[in-house]
Order: sequence, then C-alpha cells, then structure tokens
Amino acid sequence: MSKEASLKGFGGFGEASDIIDLNWENIGFGLVPTDYMYIMKSSEDGTFAKGELQRFGPIELNPASGVLNYGQGLFEGLKAYRKEDGSILLFRPEENALRMRMGAERMCMPAPTIEQFMDAVKLTVLANKRWVPPIGKGSLYIRPLLMGSGAVLGVAPAPEYTFLIFVSPVGNYFKEGLAPINLIVENDFHRATPGGTGGVKNIGNYASVLKAQKLAKEKGYSDVLYLDSVHKKYLEEVSSCNIFVVKDKIISTPATRGTILPGITRKSIIDVARGLGYQVEERLVSVEELVDANEVFCTGTAVVVSPVGSVTYLGNRSDEDNADINWDDLGFGLVPTDYMYVMKCSEADTFSF
Ligand code: COI
Repeated sequence: MSKEASLKGFGGFGEASDIIDLNWENIGFGLVPTDYMYIMKSSEDGTFAKGELQRFGPIELNPASGVLNYGQGLFEGLKAYRKEDGSILLFRPEENALRMRMGAERMCMPAPTIEQFMDAVKLTVLANKRWVPPIGKGSLYIRPLLMGSGAVLGVAPAPEYTFLIFVSPVGNYFKEGLAPINLIVENDFHRATPGGTGGVKNIGNYASVLKAQKLAKEKGYSDVLYLDSVHKKYLEEVSSCNIFVVKDKIISTPATRGTILPGITRKSIIDVARGLGYQVEERLVSVEELVDANEVFCTGTAVVVSPVGSVTYLGNRSDEDNADINWDDLGFGLVPTDYMYVMKCSEADTFSF
C-alpha cells in the first residue's frame, strides 16, 4: 500500500547526516524558517515551467492578485521523514499531487503536473534536508501552495498562477502531544456546505474555522468538530483533520461527499485497517454515534493519528459528570439543572416514604 518515495540517490545538497542543531525535544507545530523555497509560475497558456529554488523569504504579490482579493488558492500538506540510514522518505506524495490537481479544477486554476509536483517536492526537501528532524523527533512538513498571483479586479480567474513550496520541521500538532485531545461539537458554525469547496484544500476553508476554533480554545478545548450544515446531525471533520469512530470493533468515518476533505492519512488508515481485517464503513455518521462510541480518533498529515479523549456535545462532556459551564463566574443566579425531586403530602399531612 505504501507509496513512499525514497529520495536516496536523488541529486542532493550536503550530506545526509548533517542535521541542523536545534532543540528537537519540543518542536511543536510552528513555522521554523528553513533555507530554500521552490517557486514556479504559470506562463500565458496556463502551463507551468522553469521552477527554481530561492532562499526562503517573503514573496512579492500584486495587491490585485486573485489569491489576495478572491481567495483563489489551494494548499497541500505532506511530510518527509528521516530513516536510520540517513535517507529521507516522503509519505505518499503522489496523492498530494493528485489532490492538488483535483482542487485546482474546482478553483479554476491550472496546476503543475504530477511529475512537476513530485520533482519540486524532492528538490525542496533535498535543499532543506538538514532541517529533517532526527528519527523519532518529528518530520519535515512540506507545504505546497497554488495561488492566483496575477492581478484581477472583477470576479474572474487570475491571469497568472504561482506554485510555491516551503518546508518547516514539525513535531506534534496539538499541544497535548500524543495525549488524547478534547473536542467540542460545533452547533452554530459550519465548515462547509454542499456544493461549496469543503472537499478541496481551498485556503478559505481554513480561515472560516478560525472563529469557532478561537471560542473553543478559550473554553479549553483542543479543537472543533463540525456537523453537516443541512441536518446539523452528521459528523463532518475537525478544523484540520478527519474523524473516525469505533463501536464494537467496527470503524466508521464520514463519507467524503464534497463537504469533507479526502485526507491522505484517512485513506491510509482505511486501507491499513481493512488489511488487518477490520470492518471499515464510510458513510453518514451521526453525532449520537459519536457520543456512543467506544473510541474516537482523528487523522491528518499534521495531526497524524490523534486519540480523542472527550467530546462535548450540547454541553455534555463524554468523559466527565460535570456540566460544561463556566465554573469561574458562577455568582448566585439560578442555573437550571437536570432533575428535581417531588413528593406530595398525604392526607394525614405526613410524608410517607
Ligand atoms: C495537514 O494536515 O496538512 C493540514 O492541512 C492541516 C493544516 C491545516 C495544519
């Protein structure tokens, strides 16, 4: 199943054993500026050619560019890992190349060919290979971007596109590290709507989750799980990853029907689990099933596989008895609770038990 591409032997820069001197212990998921980025612009006929490595740094964009004004942009995320022999592995990069092409079609953008994408990724990784973390300390996160960089004023596809790749060493995505995360099911905000762009890696999908995510983090949750916008009943995905629920050894995940990103780690988990003999169902998964699950986990390039410790839905948190209210500002106002006890007086005016 593995589509790993070994970079060993690919014309490189520096020795495989050179690793930058960094505190690799708590690297987290923040940008660490590296040495080089890759840039390739489309020509007038919409094809890409003549990409090149440049020192990593700011780029120039026309203020009227399609990406800045109308969000005509896509990104990808994939990882490179260091092997014991010093060579570097990419995890299923062709899948990202293909997904970028699918997304580009939805966003009316030309895209690099699979070969151009692969070559550019390899070149960028090799140029930055001293930033690939030591084994067990993380990975090199590779961020390909495709954007309408040409100027456009009316709403229309941009006349020119830029494909860019930058990289950053990363560790765990969530501050919890490998410990279980706490999700809140979002009832008011939605990530995607049918017919929209939720099923592709459009940059706007990620700006639209910021508000709900900010509110959730203020309440101490790790992230937000979105429901479908039509019935408000079926699971979609978390801000940056897919979701799986396990009940009685059956693994279920929401089917990707245009509003959910077809995650590459999601696909790998499904393949691996089926290969191990598990029943895996891709279908509508209701929020009740989530609450009732034996196990829940998230998958994504950035989050890898993250166990979910609790889900909070309509104020009820799955792993504890306390209601989800702000206990710090309690005051002395009535807070309606769950149950009250009633016993009526008998004829003899005594209470009978
Ligand atoms: C990825 O897993 O590559 C993602 O797209 C997550 C990213 C939004 C941090």
